Amino acid sequence: MKIEEIRKDFPILKDKEIAYLDSGATSQKPKYVLDKIQEYYNKSNANPHRGAYSLSIESTEIYENTRKRIAKFINAKSPEQIIFSKNASESLNLIAYSYGLENVKKDEEIVISIMEHHSNLVPWQYVAKKTGGKLKYMYINEDYELSKEEIESKITDKTKIVGITHVSNVLGTINNIKEIIKYAHKKGAVVVVDASQSIPHMKIDVQELDADFLVFSGHKMFAPLGIGILYGKKEILNKMSPFIMGGDMIEYVYEQETTFAPLPNKFEAGTQNVGGVVGLGAAMDYIEKIGYDNIEKMEKELVSYARQELAKLDFLDIYMTPNEKNHSAVISFNIKGVHPHDVASILDSEGVCVRSGNHCAQPLLRYMGIDSTCRASFSVYNNKKDIDKLVEGLKKVYNMFEKYIKKGQ
Ligand code: ALA
Repeated sequence: MKIEEIRKDFPILKDKEIAYLDSGATSQKPKYVLDKIQEYYNKSNANPHRGAYSLSIESTEIYENTRKRIAKFINAKSPEQIIFSKNASESLNLIAYSYGLENVKKDEEIVISIMEHHSNLVPWQYVAKKTGGKLKYMYINEDYELSKEEIESKITDKTKIVGITHVSNVLGTINNIKEIIKYAHKKGAVVVVDASQSIPHMKIDVQELDADFLVFSGHKMFAPLGIGILYGKKEILNKMSPFIMGGDMIEYVYEQETTFAPLPNKFEAGTQNVGGVVGLGAAMDYIEKIGYDNIEKMEKELVSYARQELAKLDFLDIYMTPNEKNHSAVISFNIKGVHPHDVASILDSEGVCVRSGNHCAQPLLRYMGIDSTCRASFSVYNNKKDIDKLVEGLKKVYNMFEKYIKKGQ
């Protein structure tokens, strides 16, 4: 499939004359996904696992078949290893509460990278504070990457948990998680991978990675908002306590005691977002229809073009690795002397949507000596014209501010 054909699948891109460059925050949704959600609500909606009547059974089948579909998509050994959540943040909190609090002891270590999103950072701070454990950081080098030396000096025999993002939501750096997992396992640590920024762009195989836990949100990969995944190794998930208690996660409830349901229900209390689950399954169909090989090829070409065109603007500070092969679909930058919120609002008036701010990664930006950036993030529906529009918009912003910048005001 060609980009122009793909663009036609996204109703919002047909209706609005915009260069949507904020897919790192949330992707747009193809008609195929929107239709599947509507079809579910039009034809099959009922509360799964709760009714003996045929509509509820149909809804249960759709829900559980989609779990199988998702397991296959990331190559999990069994569907019970797929837990539905609200988003990656909820999945990470579940791991921190149910695994972290119970497995980290005083003076034991949790190691994360400085490029983590707050979702894979704040829960670990909490675990470290509650358990008396230590939270240690792997810092980036001048190429905005984690060096092998840094990784191997921070992960030690004392490390119990390693939390690592596959792709940085600020820098676009792709971390070599396979090597990190291998090294962490040698040291006896369990690894939590945040795949939120990678799974829209590259194939994830949890068995090949040997990840202990892997989380992602659906909404960055063409699915609706409000649905996320927690994958975990079965032997670990089986030993963990539930995180949220309530309906459908129990076996028997007595006045003073409860026995819990087996996986995956143990972690899915309350009525679930079945429409979201259906949408996520449809998003995976959509990705497979285009094919990850194609997605990678098209996005690589686009990122390469964006790197080249943005590098021509000498008024920009760009925060990206020089190693193009380690760079996914995110570029952060600043116009020297202009606040990123001003840049983003002027770009908006030119029809260009970028995110500005700290991108929920304050420790990273502080480490880099800045407090905010503009961020352009791409998806498979973006074309070179979108990049040209961004470049033209940035030139316009620079021209508006040039005299103030030069006066140093
Ligand atoms: N985590 C999302 C982002 O990076 C919201 O923009």
